[in-house]
Amino acid sequence: MHRTQRKGGKIYVEGVSLEALADRHGTPLYVYSAGTILDHYRRLRGVLRVLDPLVCYSVKANSNLAILNLLARAGSGFDVVSGGELERVRKAGGKAAKCVFAGVGKTEDEIEAGLRAGVKAFHVESEEELQTIAAVAARKKGRWAPVALRVNPDVAAGGHAKITTGTYANKFGIPFEEVAAIYRRAAGNRYLRLRGIQMHIGSQITQVAPFRAAVRKMVPLVARLRDRYGLDYFDIGGGVGIVYQDALASGRDGWWRTAKAQRFLTLHEYAASLVSLLRDLRMQILLEPGRFLVGNAGVLVTEVLYRKQTGRKHFTVVDAGMNDLIRPTLYEAFHQIEPIGKPRPGAISTDVVGPVCESGDVFGHDRMLSPVERGDRLAVLSAGAYGFAMASNYNTRPRPAEILVTGTRARLVRPRERVADLWRGEKKS
Ligand SMILES: Cc1ncc(COP(=O)(O)O)c(C=O)c1O
Repeated sequence: MHRTQRKGGKIYVEGVSLEALADRHGTPLYVYSAGTILDHYRRLRGVLRVLDPLVCYSVKANSNLAILNLLARAGSGFDVVSGGELERVRKAGGKAAKCVFAGVGKTEDEIEAGLRAGVKAFHVESEEELQTIAAVAARKKGRWAPVALRVNPDVAAGGHAKITTGTYANKFGIPFEEVAAIYRRAAGNRYLRLRGIQMHIGSQITQVAPFRAAVRKMVPLVARLRDRYGLDYFDIGGGVGIVYQDALASGRDGWWRTAKAQRFLTLHEYAASLVSLLRDLRMQILLEPGRFLVGNAGVLVTEVLYRKQTGRKHFTVVDAGMNDLIRPTLYEAFHQIEPIGKPRPGAISTDVVGPVCESGDVFGHDRMLSPVERGDRLAVLSAGAYGFAMASNYNTRPRPAEILVTGTRARLVRPRERVADLWRGEKKS
């Protein structure tokens, strides 16, 4: 269920109008729906309940402490990719024992921090990393490190080249054909414990076929390694796609209807295609959704600063920029853009652009928008994942405030940065 809706002409996130939030906190502003996050978490676990999976939320998608805390209280584990993310999870009340520590370039300090905290396992992406983990564990007398190999199954998942991860053209994981030999060598190392096996084939995957192809390819290998080394779990990664087009729901279950209308995988199809393959493994199943849990839960609210017309185009200049939400610039990603107030009659074609000094600072090309005026506010929808988490201070722009809405309650979960915050630690001379 998607709780961002137009009611009486205005956009609401749960019971709170975006206009009221923009008046109170200014713009640009990130607003998240706690209900949507929990709903997506529960629905995902629900369709896979025969497997009783451990959902390890992929922290990189949105690492605000309030969101991590919300998910920790719901029982979620976490997929972290740095020592910083591990610290964030623990600060937010998450348990290290439910954290898997991934990432293609862990430093020795990070490995040591993961060992000290007691993570569920390190997800290992090369044999050299495996040896380094063993060496770090050996330095801690009597310690061993829990590990699982990240397998690259060489399955193309479609989508943008910058978010596919599961083919041999990508830096991630260990090639499928080399995995068994590395487990064999690792099994003899007393500083390592072989806990599981993992894969992740990409992000924003909207069809079932690549998931099924990858799991189907993996299952015989996983079963063999389980029998030989007593592996406990199989982690099938994240990557479930969300709706970016027509993301504004018209009613309670609008989002799910939209997914169906756009011929996206539904959760039921995802579950139906995977459960039969996974159930017979009799292993714990882990999932690492990021975007699916938080993407449709967030909006970026921005104010119209200026309108201008060149000989060829109409531009709407807004106060949010690529430093606040880089997905359109980085991946040519589409985000629906809607006025948060009652739309004016008619429509114009316009490029919605930010104030950053880069031609690529564009939220949408040739968008048909209802006519806007200076001071109007727009919502950039489906911005909860890889939005604030990828924000920067480029052009010395303070990052936006973040609000978490639960019903009619709106909580400021990160204040807007101040300009003076941005040079903290710098030296004039
Ligand atoms: C190993 C791993 N797991 C999970 C994710 C989360 O992906 P998504 O947000 O598409 O679910 C990623 C994202 O790139 C990843 O690299």
